[in-house]
Amino acid sequence: MAKQISPSNIAVIGMEWGDEGKGKIIDFLAEKADVVARFNGGNNAGHTIEADGKKIVLHLIPSGVMRKNKLNVVGNGLVIDPKVLLQEIEFLKKNGIKINTENLVISENAHVILPHHIEEDRKIGGTIGTTARGIGPAYTDKAARIGLKVYEFIDDVMFKKRFGDEEFYQEYKKYAESIKPYVNDTSLIINYAINKNQKVIFEGAQGTLLDIDHGTYPFVTSSNCTTGGVCTGLGISPKKIQSVMGVCKAYKTRVGNGPFPTEITTATGQKIQKIGKEFGATTGRPRRVGWFDSLVGKYAVMINGIDSIAITKLDVLTTVEKLKICVAYKHKGNIIKNFTTNIKILQNCQPVYEEFDGWWDDLTKVKNYDRLPNNAKKYLRRIEELVNAPISIISVGPKREQTIVARNEFMF
Ligand code: IMP
Repeated sequence: MAKQISPSNIAVIGMEWGDEGKGKIIDFLAEKADVVARFNGGNNAGHTIEADGKKIVLHLIPSGVMRKNKLNVVGNGLVIDPKVLLQEIEFLKKNGIKINTENLVISENAHVILPHHIEEDRKIGGTIGTTARGIGPAYTDKAARIGLKVYEFIDDVMFKKRFGDEEFYQEYKKYAESIKPYVNDTSLIINYAINKNQKVIFEGAQGTLLDIDHGTYPFVTSSNCTTGGVCTGLGISPKKIQSVMGVCKAYKTRVGNGPFPTEITTATGQKIQKIGKEFGATTGRPRRVGWFDSLVGKYAVMINGIDSIAITKLDVLTTVEKLKICVAYKHKGNIIKNFTTNIKILQNCQPVYEEFDGWWDDLTKVKNYDRLPNNAKKYLRRIEELVNAPISIISVGPKREQTIVARNEFMF
């Protein structure tokens, strides 16, 4: 992928296990965007945005709704729980956020989550630690070619033919009526916008290591959260993607089960968890906390073709006396320098760390890169070197204003 200066579209991709702060970054970039198009996942995601004195957690609707006059697209790659979608629309309206058929479109080819998917997820999702929202079972039906697409759902003849005898039919029929006005051919809409040189954000949910193909399988979600998912989940050609921005935290977190080589089990981990308010936006579960893992970063850069990085929550590390960055894994006496999705190795390796001195300055009001403490700059520079990509954005707090643009050429 050729590096583009001031691209007209940007894919925003999670570099880790989700919760990197994509919502905030997308909201920041959306100021200059025309379209925000989400391409994967469902209401397992929780994108937190603080703007105009409000803190809103979005689960299904793209993060562009927090800005005026943006088109928000829910792509074919998603699985949609219609009840949750309608609740989210109502919730946003109550909070004074405009939602109508002018600023929200839903793909006719997305799949629908039905009550039995949720029931099944509750039964079988335990070992993975899923969000129990029916995501996996709905994608399973999609792959098994027995899923229900949105266009069938909103056509009562088709919906009734398949599910007319089910207990949920009457209730869901009403949901179908309510979402019908939003449904459209979103692939056509996005391609049109791209061809008109409109500014488009491709909004990822979850992250690279939760990707069904490239993540730490089986401890993954059931969709492609990586750049490849942009094409399949929205119906656009890879040649149309001009720029990819990876989002990662200044430290690492993970919710749910599965290997996490740099997990911190000491009091420092609890301190970061507390200061960083590391509790799941969707389920409220505490997130496990770890040191920055450059193998994961380098892997995410490679898999996604990341041009630049938005690093979030740098402010949380203030007062951590010694910071660590993982530069290799040790496994059975061997040094491993490249990430592997082999969970047997991940579960049995020891991280090799470089240590960095911390800083004590409050970063939450810093507006430009030069004003960051030297130790923070050193830490960031080493990350850039190790993961092989420049940092374009540094987030130092949840608010829009708490965002430092370090390299302008990667912005709209
Ligand atoms: P599922 O997506 O509900 O099937 O859950 C599969 C795994 O992905 C579990 O470990 C979840 O905790 C994790 N997961 C799913 N969505 C998110 C997210 O948006 N952020 C962080 N973790 C997630």
